[in-house]
Amino acid sequence: MIGLQWGDEGKGKIVDYLAGGFDAVGRFSGGSNAGHTVVIGRRKHTFHLLPSGALKGKELLIGAGVTVDPVVLRDELSLLRADLRSRLMVDARCSLVTPQDKELDRSLERMRGASSIGTTKRGIGPSYALRALRLSPRVSDLVDGFDYASLSELYRRLSVDPAGLIVWADESRELLGRLSGDVGARVVDIDEKGGSALFEGSQGTLLDLIHGSYPYVTSTHTLASYIPAGLGIPPSLAGKSMGVAKAYTTRVGGGPFPTEIEGPVAEKLRSLGNEYGATTGRPRRVGWLDLVALKYAVRLNGISELALTKVDVLSQVGEFKACVAYQHEGSESSDFQSALSHLPDVEPVYDSPFNLRGGTYGHRLSTDGRKLVDYLEAQLKTEVKLVSYGEERSKTIEL
Ligand code: IMP
Ligand code: MG
Repeated sequence: MIGLQWGDEGKGKIVDYLAGGFDAVGRFSGGSNAGHTVVIGRRKHTFHLLPSGALKGKELLIGAGVTVDPVVLRDELSLLRADLRSRLMVDARCSLVTPQDKELDRSLERMRGASSIGTTKRGIGPSYALRALRLSPRVSDLVDGFDYASLSELYRRLSVDPAGLIVWADESRELLGRLSGDVGARVVDIDEKGGSALFEGSQGTLLDLIHGSYPYVTSTHTLASYIPAGLGIPPSLAGKSMGVAKAYTTRVGGGPFPTEIEGPVAEKLRSLGNEYGATTGRPRRVGWLDLVALKYAVRLNGISELALTKVDVLSQVGEFKACVAYQHEGSESSDFQSALSHLPDVEPVYDSPFNLRGGTYGHRLSTDGRKLVDYLEAQLKTEVKLVSYGEERSKTIEL
């Protein structure tokens, strides 16, 4: 399950909805920067590290490509029933987020000043950077022993106090020792026994470290092509990917956002859509659907099936606009990749193919929903398989 925009597309809800059909659910990248919200009845659950299928009683897998904050892990596990807790495996190769990584994240953001990325301050960037420097402790290191002296020295050189590192490690060792395993091998095993697993991306395509709106991106790979790498399974096992897109666009944090809007429509989208960061509580920036960016995301991920979310929110706004090209220095282009270098300066070219009426939803698609689905299928040459019209699990239509 891959997010096709700047994150917060509603992956958590869709994963929870589909999880029933799988033996296991898991994550393959990112960390506790993610905020995946699942609503069941009146109860709202936000997971930062646990896979969104956690509440379905499935086997839970955290693959090697995820960076694990053991403090967050402990907190989230404590919310689960004991029988569900024992169904989690964390790959021994996962890097860990230390308290110092979080401090470093805050200090790097301060250093950037006005051009700060607007990170979630969960220590994600520093943790992945230390992994690349070969200084990050992994789950297995915590269990088997690690050279904390080098890491402490590095933190000192970066003006971060390493105090507490050993205590932190001592407090996490027992839990991680119990959960640690080989997720790649487990996925192969599930497959060989005829089973299946669902993996949810974190963040979205446009936040990918390499293919997103760099430097305003996260520190990991968010694309479908990273699923096998992040898990440690052969690419041939990865199966197909479903893309999740919101009927409009949001972004939290800094960076270019061509279809961003302000004013009454923006306020309406934000309040009706509850567009506040699930991890940080920050108001999300909002804007119209961006088909230029979405086409790029569909191509990068090889998406043939789409889940469309928050159709009800857009419906209530009444108006519908979709950006079909970017204008820059007198010429028009619908190639996102070539626009990346000057994204802050492009002007969106909008198509307003119809107005929306705000009709009610039941188990069938409303008139508005039908118009949107037909339009998106024609524009993106992709089949819309699921439409979500509310945050509860039940407010989902299968097409
Ligand atoms: P980081 O991943 O905390 O380093 O933040 C980098 C950028 O990714 C910032 O713009 C964050 O707001 C954004 N980001 C990270 N995780 C999420 C998410 O789960 N949803 C939406 N944006 C995210
Ligand atoms: Mg989110």
